[in-house]
Amino acid sequence: PTPASAPTQCVGPSFRAVADKPSATVSAVVSSDNVYVLPQTPQLIALLSMIRNKDTERADFIFYSNRIIRLLVEEGLNHLPVIEKNITTPVGRTYNGLMFQGKICGVSIMRAGEAMEQGLRDCCRSVRIGKILIQRDEDTALPKLFYDKLPEDIANRWVLLLDPMFATGGSATMAVEVLKGRGVPEDRILFLNLIASPEGITSFAAKFPRLKVVTAFIDEGLDEKNYIVPGLGDFGDRFYTI
Ligand code: PRP
Ligand code: URA
Repeated sequence: PTPASAPTQCVGPSFRAVADKPSATVSAVVSSDNVYVLPQTPQLIALLSMIRNKDTERADFIFYSNRIIRLLVEEGLNHLPVIEKNITTPVGRTYNGLMFQGKICGVSIMRAGEAMEQGLRDCCRSVRIGKILIQRDEDTALPKLFYDKLPEDIANRWVLLLDPMFATGGSATMAVEVLKGRGVPEDRILFLNLIASPEGITSFAAKFPRLKVVTAFIDEGLDEKNYIVPGLGDFGDRFYTI
């Protein structure tokens, strides 16, 4: 049975009557103000259906993951500050526009987070990218920090923290502690994520109330091995090795 936290909804183009739309499981809702879930559009649900499917081959897994990652990055950029910028068009008229304010960098939680780097680079040319190598212990699911290499001036940048899977939240919490230890203010961290567990994301958002999370989907929960369910299995294995 589908638990209450994983609602089923009619999804489809707005010109169709509700009765004519197919139903699909959409993201659970959490009440944290600092968690933003991507709109549950037919496109997003179809892309997620591709990468969740255990029979999807690696090439397709990479292709469709990259499409969701691009949506996450584009949305993430909406949460960065902008200032007014008036420009003149070729016909001599003024357009009241905007431009981004402040420097950014990406930080990927290795290995799976590295899969999100290209999506960030596609939107932010020559963006600096730091790395934090954190691995979950396969038996205890506890995170272990092995390595970090971050831009020297990271404390003066907005940080887009990248990791597709958010299960217990242990890895992301450890990464945020590393960033805070380097002087990055919490409110300049934006965590981009594909699939989160409701328990993980809720406690993370409460622990770091000034940081923002952008995720594509909040799932039903965790299984006995602390894998996200229904989830998609091991993202790093499916993207890099299987
Ligand atoms: C996965 C994933 C996250 C972490 C999530 O990485 O990419 O970093 O697990 O789990 P958590 O929220 O319970 O900490 P993993 O350590 O398996 O390494 P990988 O990236 O090499 O697959
Ligand atoms: N890491 C993954 O790749 N998948 C999960 O479900 C949990 C942690």
